[in-house]
Amino acid sequence: MSALDTVDNNDNRAAPIVRLRGLRKSFGNAEILRGIDLDVVTGQHVVIFGPSGSGKSTLLRSLNMLEQPTAGSLQVDGVEYGPGLPDEPSGRRGKVLDLRRTVGMVFQQFNLFPHLTALDNVALPLRSVRGLKGRVAQRKAAEALRRVGLLPRAAHYPQQLSGGQQQRVAIARALAMDPKVMLFDEPTSALDPELVGEVLKTMREVAETGMTMVVVTHELGFAKEIGDLNVFMEDGLVVEKGPRGFFEKCESPRAREFILAVRS
Ligand SMILES: Nc1ncnc2c1ncn2[C@@H]1O[C@H](COP(=O)(O)OP(=O)(O)O)[C@@H](O)[C@H]1O
Ligand SMILES: [Mg+2]
Repeated sequence: MSALDTVDNNDNRAAPIVRLRGLRKSFGNAEILRGIDLDVVTGQHVVIFGPSGSGKSTLLRSLNMLEQPTAGSLQVDGVEYGPGLPDEPSGRRGKVLDLRRTVGMVFQQFNLFPHLTALDNVALPLRSVRGLKGRVAQRKAAEALRRVGLLPRAAHYPQQLSGGQQQRVAIARALAMDPKVMLFDEPTSALDPELVGEVLKTMREVAETGMTMVVVTHELGFAKEIGDLNVFMEDGLVVEKGPRGFFEKCESPRAREFILAVRS
């Protein structure tokens, strides 16, 4: 029995750390997420892929409440952050700050502060979100930079670092918060091709620690390597999802077409 079967059977021992039911998000009249169901089990590495505009970033941003879901249930670690479902009793409700402590995010454009050193970029949320004192935050930030191999660059400002190094600082910033889940939104898409490898290597190392990860990526080689669960999205919906081997075995014509187009 796989971990996913266990979840489907409602086995509490494998209760999903992230559980989405009927998640919807509209911007004005445009419904961008049209009812997403997804379970992410602790330690699982989920890959999300699909055409541009299909709602992947909106989904990821919703998982961190950078976007507020319009309808449906978004439970993280057993706590409800979405509006909830009409036919489900509303459970314990969480605050955004609690969610941000639990779920870390790495963006396509790194989102580092240009006026702060690598060390201070990593230390800042440790102070503001985790409430750590300056010294403690700096020590923890240094440890996170060491994990991504950038301790020697701690005093550098973002513009003194390559794109790949900046993204590794952003990964360190998320890691330093000791999140239970890490989200990656096309983390290598803004990089020159020769810098992609070092970021994927860092992500691979994070995956090997057993970190729960949800990764939007079109790096299919990497996706095949880490994807325990692979999700193809189109037009605000999950069209098809599946375990390892998905890229060879998926059935929906749109997913197959998309995989071929990305490969070529
Ligand atoms: N803040 C926003 N306001 C209005 N429309 C948005 C906003 N964010 C995203 N969208 C729209 O939602 C759709 C899906 O976007 P996105 O989630 O970024 O897709 P993907 O990441 O799959 O490319 C796009 O049509 C985009 O224009
Ligand atoms: Mg996107």
